[in-house]
Amino acid sequence: MNAPIVWRDHYEFDYEKIMPVIEETFSLCGERQVRKVFLENGEACSTASLCTDSPNKQPHLRKENWEFLDWLHPRLRNIMIAWEYPLEIPYYIYNSWYNSHYKTGETLEHNHALSHLVVSCYIKVPENSGNIMFRDPLHDIRAMEPRTNGSYPWKELEVKTGDIVVFPGWLWHKVQPSNSDEERIVWTINIKVDEQLLSGHYLTAMRDGVFFSRSDVLR
Ligand SMILES: [Fe+2]
Repeated sequence: MNAPIVWRDHYEFDYEKIMPVIEETFSLCGERQVRKVFLENGEACSTASLCTDSPNKQPHLRKENWEFLDWLHPRLRNIMIAWEYPLEIPYYIYNSWYNSHYKTGETLEHNHALSHLVVSCYIKVPENSGNIMFRDPLHDIRAMEPRTNGSYPWKELEVKTGDIVVFPGWLWHKVQPSNSDEERIVWTINIKVDEQLLSGHYLTAMRDGVFFSRSDVLR
């Protein structure tokens, strides 16, 4: 009835190219304590403060990451089509940041309510460094069903280095505490539909008597 809401793919990152960018981005955030942000617990730090303090230093604006973004965009388009978004709906990368976790580092439960899609790029996932957990949006609705573990709303998605996970911004999620001595690095990207451009598209479509919709794909 509905297309899957969590998508997983895989990308071979060029570490020689991207690691200097990651190091530099973390160094721009100052001391480790300063780098700590809301939702990050234990041995964790994030470059999320750059999204507001130095937005032009965000990872998606670094040319070293553009080859990956070129790979990502057609896949995002396919997911949007599966979710019955209008064809060619205008969207853009709203912001992005790196998170780093050592042993005990975790991300508490949250959603990205202001963005339509979230992309989690697993740059480095050492063994036992924890997985992402999603809160099943059907949990409350299926409360009366005698399901195994039916009283527990969280679903674990196993991830490994190079995995790319895409999900809707409204979906609650968290990251398990790392139990590894090695660093785990994740690049998170928020994608937003450009609502101003979208309303322009609709006005044009109405003027021309043409609407772009899922039915156009099936024709
Ligand atoms: Fe998140």
